Amino acid sequence: QVLPVIMAGGSGTRLWPLSRAGYPKQFLVLSGNESLFQLAAKRLAALAAPGIELGAPCIVGNDEHRFLVLDQLREIRQTPSSVLLEPTGRNTAPALTLAALAALEGGQDPVLVVTPADQTVTQPAAFTAALQEAIQIASEGAIALLGITPDRPETGYGYVRTTADAGGLAVAQFVEKPDLATAEKYLAAGGYFWNSGMFVLRASVWMKALERFRPDIAEATRAAWAVRKTDDKFVRPGKAEFAAVPSESVDYAVMERCPGTDIPLRMVALDAGWNDLGAWEAVWQVAEKDEAGNAFVGDALIADSQNTLVHATSRLVGVVGLKDIVVVETADAVLVSDRARSQEVKQIVNRLGAEQ
Ligand code: GDD
Ligand code: MG
Repeated sequence: QVLPVIMAGGSGTRLWPLSRAGYPKQFLVLSGNESLFQLAAKRLAALAAPGIELGAPCIVGNDEHRFLVLDQLREIRQTPSSVLLEPTGRNTAPALTLAALAALEGGQDPVLVVTPADQTVTQPAAFTAALQEAIQIASEGAIALLGITPDRPETGYGYVRTTADAGGLAVAQFVEKPDLATAEKYLAAGGYFWNSGMFVLRASVWMKALERFRPDIAEATRAAWAVRKTDDKFVRPGKAEFAAVPSESVDYAVMERCPGTDIPLRMVALDAGWNDLGAWEAVWQVAEKDEAGNAFVGDALIADSQNTLVHATSRLVGVVGLKDIVVVETADAVLVSDRARSQEVKQIVNRLGAEQ
């Protein structure tokens, strides 16, 4: 059995002011007419095939967004198997642990297809084929990740070096978010891939790896799960217990530590027009643009400008003579940023703190 798991509890601060605490980026429609979360759910639903018994998706997200999750799934005619609600985000390792514990409840050990909710893919058929291969690998007990051929020294991703063996590509090294000098070195060396953030593995394999490398996270998350409250599809781990779980990502907690151990980590190359919509720069990259490289959403008038993104939500926005700029207008906040520095929007959000 195959169980899709969508991690949808991130805050998406670099897409401020559109992405807000109450309405983070994964629930936003950034292009076309479906949100990133809806796109992720639809991509997973397409994995069903002869030999793949696909369950309804398990969503792990913040309690505050429970109705966004249900409403957005209803819009695309999907019903979740369960919605696991975190009282506070403890990053992805505890989130995946909740999903694994929920999956193991029924006495089965399904293959989890774990995916972020903040990505886009332009070639669905290639995506489906790569994920189906990863499901096959994971059903045999390995952890499969999906690797992307890098085209720039991006420091916001994990890097993976592979070696070929009889079974395909084994991961020899996993480095999460290296500094710029290191990323440049990897790119020059060749043979490195980006980690796409999608992982395919049996629920029991995750628990075994976590018990091995971070028994503290395993134990604390089990304690929160043991006192969970269930309300139809909603499952809430104990609030105080979950708050005490160490905050760590899947990548740092487990993936970086697998190479060289008896926990097999394997990679399937994903060449499907993958993009992580982390910051406004990436939104501009994937947007439909005019001859001068300008993209706009909403009511925008752009004159004599180049490679500029204007995103208007509540008012008409006019810009003249801009080059490589991002302008984002919302009812209560406006962002104007150098496109290449849109990662630094995080600094503004940090200064705003809870007000955002
Ligand atoms: N439920 C839950 N709880 N989900 C979370 C939490 C949490 O506390 N924190 C983050 N998420 C969700 C986000 O909404 C997103 O969909 C996904 O988990 C990944 O989290 P990010 O915070 O976006 O991770 P990242 O982009 O910095 O890094 C990961 O993805 C990269 C590719 O996009 C890593 O796996 C990198 O290695 C990878 O390259
Ligand atoms: Mg991300």
